[in-house]
Amino acid sequence: MSKYFSEARSARAVNARMGPSVNPRLREVMACLVEHLHAFAKEIHLTQQEWELAIDFLTRTGQICGDERQEFILLSDALGFSMLVDAINNRRPPGATESTVFGPFHVAEAPERAMGECIALDGKGESCLFHGQVFDLQGKPVERARIDVWSDNADGFYDVQQPAIQPKWNNRGIFTTGPDGRYSFVGIKPVSYPIPHDGPVGQLLQRLGRHPYRPAHMHFLVTAPGFEKLVTHTFVGDDPYLASDTVFGVKETLIAPFDRVDDGETIWRSAFDFLLTPTDAPR
Ligand code: BEZ
Ligand code: FE
Repeated sequence: MSKYFSEARSARAVNARMGPSVNPRLREVMACLVEHLHAFAKEIHLTQQEWELAIDFLTRTGQICGDERQEFILLSDALGFSMLVDAINNRRPPGATESTVFGPFHVAEAPERAMGECIALDGKGESCLFHGQVFDLQGKPVERARIDVWSDNADGFYDVQQPAIQPKWNNRGIFTTGPDGRYSFVGIKPVSYPIPHDGPVGQLLQRLGRHPYRPAHMHFLVTAPGFEKLVTHTFVGDDPYLASDTVFGVKETLIAPFDRVDDGETIWRSAFDFLLTPTDAPR
């Protein structure tokens, strides 16, 4: 057999070049990636022109990235890859609250707020009381759970997308549970919004006949000592984009009730409990 590159033994030729002292996991990951990448090109008979198009697409994807924009994660999201990685890494016991995509709009160190406080600072939107309890898998309330929440405003934008228009920390806050595990805060009933679609990912979605919308949701990052970090959302059940979320983040169990209330201080009320997985739970 020739020692040179050929179509038939292309992946093997590349993988055989790895040195003897390569990190074992890096060896495994790269060998598998090269095998699948080469098999993909062969299966679809990738043309030279298509290869150039792909290089141009990836170049533009990189060029639009900056401190405020991560187009590669957006690409991963739009291809369902982020949700796949999330699923592989968050196989939880039955009953535990499911995770979903993190998204690019979380900002660390949001203001710590008192239970019941309002996070909607721009006066827009339909007010909603979010409330519930954090439990362990035995139904015991979890104390000292930190619930970091964020959502878009009534115009469908996060505060960081409109720093000149929205107040800083609009629709964000961190709440810490007491011994009863209860949480509550006032926000707005979220609205559906498009992911940033003025770049290469937006162009790809358009070429694929896909819309860029996400169904309305509230983001939650729940952490507590002794429990696995939970990154999730609650979704508004009557949203027209539930079945076609552009980043595939919807799970049946995360669709929360949003009830119109006539007698309360808010227009809507949404109850949702979180069931956390202990860090030592069997996988
Ligand atoms: C979000 O829900 O904030 C989000 C998730 C993925 C891509 C873009 C936005
Ligand atoms: Fe979001």
